[in-house]
This record gives sequence, C-alpha cells and structure tokens, in this order.
Amino acid sequence: MASAQIVYASMTGNTQEIAEIVEERLADQGVDTTLTEITQADASDFENADICIVAAYTFSDGGPGLLPEEGEDFFADLKELDLHGKVYGTCGSGDRFYDDFATAVDMFDEAFAATGAKRGAAGVKIDLAPEAEDIDTLEKFADDLLHAATAE
Ligand SMILES: Cc1cc2nc3c(=O)[nH]c(=O)nc-3n(C[C@H](O)[C@H](O)[C@H](O)COP(=O)(O)O)c2cc1C
Repeated sequence: MASAQIVYASMTGNTQEIAEIVEERLADQGVDTTLTEITQADASDFENADICIVAAYTFSDGGPGLLPEEGEDFFADLKELDLHGKVYGTCGSGDRFYDDFATAVDMFDEAFAATGAKRGAAGVKIDLAPEAEDIDTLEKFADDLLHAATAE
C-alpha cells in the first residue's frame, strides 16, 4: 500500500480544507495517509512516505508573495533532503487580489524539485476557500499523484 505525508500551513482554514480534501481522496483509495500542520512537522517526515505533499497559503507584507512565516524552517530543511524515488505535489490557497497569486505553491515546488523527487501532478492554486469545481481539481491532483507513485 502506498503512503502519503501531507503537511499544511493555514492561518484562516482555507488551506487546511484543501489539505483535508486531498487527504480524504487518497485515503478513499487505500493510501495510508498522514496529515500534519507545518509547525508540528519535520521535513524529514517525507523520507517515510511514497507521496509527499505540501499545502501552503501565501502571505505578503506589501512586497512579493512569501511563504507562511511559520513554515520557513521547514522550507529550509526540505531543500536539503534527498527524496529521490518519491513523488511530490504542491497546492495551496491564495487571493487573486494579489499580483503574486499563491506563489508559495511554486516556492515549495522548487524546494521539492531540489530534493530529486518527481513531480506527480501540476501545482494547484485555489482562490480563497475551495468551491465545488476546486474540489474536482484537488481530487484529480490526488489521483495524479497516486498514479505517478504506483507507476514507479
Ligand atoms: C496580510 C496578507 C497578505 C497576503 N498576501 C497574499 C499574497 O501575496 N498572495 C496571495 O495569493 N494571497 C495573499 N494573501 C491571501 C491569503 O493567502 C488567502 O487569504 C488564503 O486563503 C489564506 O489561506 P488560509 O485560510 O489557509 O490561511 C494574503 C493575506 C493576508 C491577510
């Protein structure tokens, strides 16, 4: 059975909802799934999973879109890992009001790429809280990740 580790950062709950939708989809398909809030997670938790997922919101203070502040240490540690042989995906919530829409999704994508892991699905950026069509997109994201992991 494949295993998945999902780590999320969420201030007002939108990204937590996103992470839970992905978790439920994977669990429904028999994946052994763990969901952890980013301050409770260690980047090395990914070493024990076949599918590695980060869900993060984007924050800015008048300048460019930034990582969630509470995820900066996790981000730095992630880039240093060797995750060859694993599949990863990134997703998260942002607000289209901002020029740098949900750029934390791209930043975590780059960090995972540096670990040698394989991107199993394109990053998913959700405007605020997930709506019905976003749920479809997130379920496809989860399915693509599972397919990529089981095709290894
Ligand atoms: C001070 C502040 C700055 C923000 N900056 C950005 C940003 O640069 N880009 C973006 O896409 N969203 C930005 N957002 C929007 C949040 O990412 C958005 O509200 C998201 O849904 C929050 O996710 P959460 O509910 O998981 O915390 C900002 C929100 C706040 C309050």
